[in-house]
Amino acid sequence: MKLKELISRARTCRRFKGEHQLSSEILADLVDHARLSASARNKQVLRFVTIADKDTCEAMNALVVMGGSLTPEQRAKADQHPGGFIVIVGPENLDEFAVIDIGIAAQSINLAACEAGLACCMIGAVKKNEAAALLGLPKDMQVKLVLALGEPDEVRRLVERRDDGSLTYYRDENDEHCVPKISLEEAVIIRK
Ligand SMILES: Cc1cc2nc3c(=O)[nH]c(=O)nc-3n(C[C@H](O)[C@H](O)[C@H](O)COP(=O)(O)O)c2cc1C
Repeated sequence: MKLKELISRARTCRRFKGEHQLSSEILADLVDHARLSASARNKQVLRFVTIADKDTCEAMNALVVMGGSLTPEQRAKADQHPGGFIVIVGPENLDEFAVIDIGIAAQSINLAACEAGLACCMIGAVKKNEAAALLGLPKDMQVKLVLALGEPDEVRRLVERRDDGSLTYYRDENDEHCVPKISLEEAVIIRK
């Protein structure tokens, strides 16, 4: 698959096939893609926690918000919870470049998951202190970003910006998840 197709397919997913629990080995292999990615000054200050255990997955699921712009009916049902999580952790005071590392690591995992037939939701809306306690993080480590992973159980597709100008994601009449993206003309503001 060409990289642009992979990027286009790697849409955020919030409903998973709940019966498909991911293994620690699969999650670790996804982390390996992040480990090999770019890092500011190559400092590599980020670390990763993988959660394959079903009970810990459920506990983590209760600490995150997925699909804040969706109605409750449009969110995952009890049998559509993620099959695993990867939690990106790091020291409290990350400099601005190290913060960029979080996004790079997350996208590497997202793309690797898509390539493997899985899907991902990057989650900033997490009760960070409670998640740190659940995972038993060392005191000098904080939760930075949570990645929910699993086998997708919803159709997600790219669409153009809506007529009213909105870029908020939405479900269409077929319950397909639509993600508006700006056009290339809007994205490139100067061509010299
Ligand atoms: C840094 C970051 C934090 C995010 N936090 C959340 C979140 O807390 N909950 C959620 O459902 N989605 C979250 N998302 C997913 C975005 O909502 C999603 O990327 C956006 O709707 C565009 O969809 P796409 O990923 O399919 O392009 C986050 C994405 C990023 C990059």
